[in-house]
Amino acid sequence: MPTALHAPKTAFVTGASSGIGKAAALALARAGYRVVGTSRKVDSGEVRDGIRMIACDVTSDASVVAQWPPRTPNSVASNCW
Ligand SMILES: NC(=O)c1ccc[n+]([C@@H]2O[C@H](COP(=O)([O-])OP(=O)(O)OC[C@H]3O[C@@H](n4cnc5c(N)ncnc54)[C@H](OP(=O)(O)O)[C@@H]3O)[C@@H](O)[C@H]2O)c1
Repeated sequence: MPTALHAPKTAFVTGASSGIGKAAALALARAGYRVVGTSRKVDSGEVRDGIRMIACDVTSDASVVAQWPPRTPNSVASNCW
């Protein structure tokens, strides 16, 4: 039975469409994390280079509340916008 120790690790990366955020998202994916990345200019659910993207504007409380995924025991967040 899966335990928290063996649960898939999830990483949530803001600003994952370019620059530092994209590099961080790709590095985390290579390290075995299931990565969710954000951009203002994607369709939620779109997959880019193996990263599942969601549309989110971090300057909008409503957008963040609507999109921020539930935390899991092994999750990490990286803000790169
Ligand atoms: N590059 C460097 O050497 C460096 C060094 C030190 C610090 N920084 C800082 O690190 C951050 C990222 O730099 P970068 O060079 O990687 O920039 P970048 O290539 O322009 O990437 C910015 C990322 O942030 C996203 N973004 C911008 N505004 C957003 C918003 N309101 N809501 C959600 N996402 C937003 C963009 O996504 P969309 O446009 O697709 O929405 C894009 O994915 C900046 O704050 C920069 O000042 C950069």
